[in-house]
Amino acid sequence: MSDSSSSNLSTETAAAWAPRRLFVTTALPYANGSFHLGHIMEYIQADIWVRAQRMAGHEVHFVCADDAHGAPIMLKAQAQGQSPEELVASVAAERPQYLEGFAIRFDHWHSTHSPENTELAQGIYLKLREAGLIEVRAIEQFFDPVKEMFLADRYIKGQCPKCGAKDQFGDACEVCGAVYSPTDLIEPYSTLSGAKPVLKSSEHFFFKLSDDRCKQFLKQWMGHGRLQSEVANKAAEWLDDEGKGLADWDISRDAPYFGIPIPDAPGKYFYVWLDAPVGYLASLKSYFDAGKAQAQTAQSFDEFINDPQVEQVHFIGKDIIYFHTLFWPAMLKFSGRKIPDQINVHGFITVSGEKMSKSRGTGISPLRYLELGMDPDWMRYYLAAKLTARVEDIDFNTEDFLARVNSNLVGKYVNIASRAAKIIAENFDSVLLEAPASRIYSPNNAQHAAEVSNLFGDCAPNADKPAFGEIVALMHAREFNQAVVRIMQLADKVNTYWDGHKPWALAKQAATDRAARDQLHWICSLTMYAFKDLTILLHPIAPRLTRDAAQFLGLEAPLGYAQLWDGTTLSRLNPFKPLMTRVDAAMLDQLVPEPAVSAAPSNLGPTPVSVAPSASSPGAVEPLSPTITIDDFAKVDLRIAKIVHAEAVEGSKKLLRLTLDVGEATHRNVFSGIQSAYAPEQLIGRYTVMVANLAARKMKFGLSEGMVLAASGTDDAAGLFLLAPDTGATPGMRVR
Ligand code: MSP
Ligand code: ZN
Repeated sequence: MSDSSSSNLSTETAAAWAPRRLFVTTALPYANGSFHLGHIMEYIQADIWVRAQRMAGHEVHFVCADDAHGAPIMLKAQAQGQSPEELVASVAAERPQYLEGFAIRFDHWHSTHSPENTELAQGIYLKLREAGLIEVRAIEQFFDPVKEMFLADRYIKGQCPKCGAKDQFGDACEVCGAVYSPTDLIEPYSTLSGAKPVLKSSEHFFFKLSDDRCKQFLKQWMGHGRLQSEVANKAAEWLDDEGKGLADWDISRDAPYFGIPIPDAPGKYFYVWLDAPVGYLASLKSYFDAGKAQAQTAQSFDEFINDPQVEQVHFIGKDIIYFHTLFWPAMLKFSGRKIPDQINVHGFITVSGEKMSKSRGTGISPLRYLELGMDPDWMRYYLAAKLTARVEDIDFNTEDFLARVNSNLVGKYVNIASRAAKIIAENFDSVLLEAPASRIYSPNNAQHAAEVSNLFGDCAPNADKPAFGEIVALMHAREFNQAVVRIMQLADKVNTYWDGHKPWALAKQAATDRAARDQLHWICSLTMYAFKDLTILLHPIAPRLTRDAAQFLGLEAPLGYAQLWDGTTLSRLNPFKPLMTRVDAAMLDQLVPEPAVSAAPSNLGPTPVSVAPSASSPGAVEPLSPTITIDDFAKVDLRIAKIVHAEAVEGSKKLLRLTLDVGEATHRNVFSGIQSAYAPEQLIGRYTVMVANLAARKMKFGLSEGMVLAASGTDDAAGLFLLAPDTGATPGMRVR
């Protein structure tokens, strides 16, 4: 028998063991909103992988940061009457509760709006300039004369030049699908002020990606197994772009802009996507400078990041591949820095087949999940059971969630301990036999040897099919779903073993029958050793659950994969406490909001229809009121109103005070219960619809002279949506 188990591992497994030094990140989330389920999924995927690397003994530095810059954040802050720094700080303050809540353990969380990032981004830019890869050119662009700023395409709307549809964005028509530039729009207007934009020229800075050096470098960078094959194909297509190659990249924005100033260029800032990935390095630097890396390495930030042995690994979603496979590696390469070793791309998560909105996320709020007291390990396990190493979308489905967690994680894994613990405590004072620990050295009792070989025969590292080694390799390859399938197959085996020996019957004999007692002791011990192995294998996926299980087993923390093979013994079990409850369907009902009222088909292609007869009831749409005649309707005088002012109402959590221009000599004062959905600043200047002949009502806060119209669901969680007319409507127009 070999005493060095690792020398017998298959080469695949051995690869997972060669010591690695890893710098790992997830994408930096925009700091203008809370996390949604898509973010949590990305972090859980990366966190599971990082934990598995650590359990294999690798050195890992896992960081993230808020992506703080850019026009959307600047404008949102403005609309809320805040500075961008204040907005970013308020979002940043929310982060820990999500991360801790889902046991996502970044070593450090920083911000792109930081001195480290300014220094690094400017430094990288200067190197690119030195390399002759920066060029300045004047370009003509739409400019909002009211807001006094250049407008990104998304802030320009107008009539489609092809089909004439109104209110189309500056880049493409959602009605006919035509693609064009904002200057092609008929009657363009700024969505920020409503003003007609004017063309204005300005100098912009470009990163010359069209330079042949970039193309040559990227071509070879892509070809080294750094990318999943589907990602590599896509990137290669972009790189070639039908033989035209890459276009230069516009990396500057004019003031006013919330960003990092470009050196030697007053009034110019880096485009947010220039400094965002640099934020990976800034976060790492801040982590090193804070002394947090020193538990793992004696190197400084500069030494570490220049060390060729260190691998740089990014986890990202499929929507930002372009930035990470073209711009980012080229920026690093030509500024003389370490280039990314792995870009791990995942698909999107949908909920019951529905795409989620970019800003509001899926219908499932991660915070609500936590507030409902739902176990983070349920979510982690469920996502792991669905995640692969390919770029595939995955669907969160409540029925599937309940079934997988309850019948597999709880029904198969947790169940082993809950059933065995009681018998072991009652019959053996919680003390186990040590023999099973030496199972890899073949026990000398033939019957026991057969049982060990049946349960673990293919698990020992020196066997032909090292099942544990394969599971670890699957974790390493991000094939979490396959790993979970294998782990559950092992759990099935253990349950079959336990049931087949009817330990509850043996326990009845044990008081009087010595042989029965010995046999029972052996069965219990072997079962608990198997439970120990399952605990270690599940640890990266369900850290809280397995930490509690390890505590019960008396296993030494931190858990590592070596404990699968190193003859770790379990001597005495600690008192058993229930490890995990089952998912309760009622909780899922509370988690998933009622389906949205409108089921109108989107023009973005067919949306898969949810067939889940699940959780929430079908009757989410409010029942219709009794029929009225056209004359009844005519009694309601609806008018277009312009919100000329809006403010909070002191002493009310619900109301906003709106000042409305309805085309009359004087403005109207209306109190509206929309505070939960709108910040007052967001409303000023907007047009809406009001009931203009509603009897005035005296309220605690003053007289309300009418009512504005908003859509809402049966449940508050569905939100509130103020009506708005198409552009062109003017105050006082009647709605009929
Ligand atoms: N700020 C940029 C990234 C800069 S990285 C230098 C950004 N932020 S984001 O908040 O919009 O997205 C952050 C991550 O969440 C991205 O990797 C994105 O792909 C991922 N997801 C956003 N929606 C998602 C789903 N519905 N499902 C899974 N991941 C999704 O992009
Ligand atoms: Zn069109």
